[in-house]
Amino acid sequence: MVKKRIDPFNEMIYSRIPALLWGVLVYVAAMIFQFLTASLSLSSLFFSGLIAIHLILHWWSFYWFKKKPWIYFFIQGIVILLCVLAMQAASPVILIGLLPLLIAQSIGVYYHTLKIILTGLCFYVLFFLALILVNDTDDLTVYIPILFLILIVVVAYSILFFRQVKARIRTQTFLKELELAHQQVEELTLANERQRMARDLHDTLAQGLAGIIMQLEAVQAHLENQNTQRAQSIIKGSMSQARKTLGEARMVIDDLRKDRHDQYDLTETVKNEVNRFTTATNIPIRTKISVPQNMSPFFIEHTVYMIKECLTNVSKHAKASHVELVMVQQGDHIHLEIADNGVGFDEKKRESTFGHYGIIGMSERVRLLGGEIHLKSKKNEGTQVIVNIPLKKE
Ligand SMILES: Nc1ncnc2c1ncn2[C@@H]1O[C@H](COP(=O)(O)OP(=O)(O)OP(=O)(O)O)[C@@H](O)[C@H]1O
Ligand SMILES: [Mg+2]
Repeated sequence: MVKKRIDPFNEMIYSRIPALLWGVLVYVAAMIFQFLTASLSLSSLFFSGLIAIHLILHWWSFYWFKKKPWIYFFIQGIVILLCVLAMQAASPVILIGLLPLLIAQSIGVYYHTLKIILTGLCFYVLFFLALILVNDTDDLTVYIPILFLILIVVVAYSILFFRQVKARIRTQTFLKELELAHQQVEELTLANERQRMARDLHDTLAQGLAGIIMQLEAVQAHLENQNTQRAQSIIKGSMSQARKTLGEARMVIDDLRKDRHDQYDLTETVKNEVNRFTTATNIPIRTKISVPQNMSPFFIEHTVYMIKECLTNVSKHAKASHVELVMVQQGDHIHLEIADNGVGFDEKKRESTFGHYGIIGMSERVRLLGGEIHLKSKKNEGTQVIVNIPLKKE
């Protein structure tokens, strides 16, 4: 489940509340100013409506900021101009009170010097235009310094303020992302566990049973040829394999896998597997094994399962008359190669993965070992499985 992300613009609510209060203050001041210098008329009602629009737009400003902030600033500019026209006597209060606020807002939205300067300039033009429209240019020498002073204070304050707000939003976003990552790690761990169980079931039970079937088929062939002695020795082999498979399955169930190959020597284990294969299938294997003695149990476990899967595949699918197994150290990695001269298969037309998990399991094991696997096969040209595993990444 993906959690809802923080909307940074909506989070700007912390910057909207003080600005809203400031807007109310300007409204009250303008009303008092108008009342003292002229008289409150119907136009002050119109002004109240305009201020309400201004504040509502302000409250929903994040909605515009996501799309086209300039539309927001344009509409607010018009609203302020109409306010000035409605309350001509209070025009300095409105202009000096509201315009710096919009410029401050542009800092929070754009965070881009040129755009902020441009917005500021537009509002300055609006300021002069409004004063010319209400014929109040005489007191410009007083208004301009006041506007400047207020602007400097507001801009300085808003830079600090927006920095803090953005830092807070960033921290919260990081926290949310961390939470999300944590959840994903949990899900991945579960998926990994499922993969591991599927692989283990395949490589113990499925592979073991396939081996026993293979041996029983050989027994049947020998019995048909009255070769009871040979049949008996294979039966002994399959009984021991059945016990081994059962033991391995139990270990998987008990999740004791980690210690399974502690006592095994890699070369020895691989040779045993090769002997078992040759006894059951009568297919000769030429081996070349030369690996360091102190390989980790992790490496041994995965490598042995891969070799077993390759040999099982040869006996199940290849109809080969010869197999070659090479496992040698080449520089900083172990090179493993299992090649048969069997019927091969078309890589592109490989059967759907449903019911075929051996190669998938091998790829997963190679990935866990930090190595790479290549499968080379063509119809009637045999199959070659090449695995390279770095020694240091075990
Ligand atoms: N040595 C090989 N010779 C010929 N075909 C092969 C060989 N190895 C694999 N294949 C082909 O690739 C397919 C996929 O092999 P994979 O090991 O993934 O599944 P599987 O052996 O059919 O079933 P599973 O391993 O799950 O019991 C096989 O069905 C077979 O067609
Ligand atoms: Mg297989």
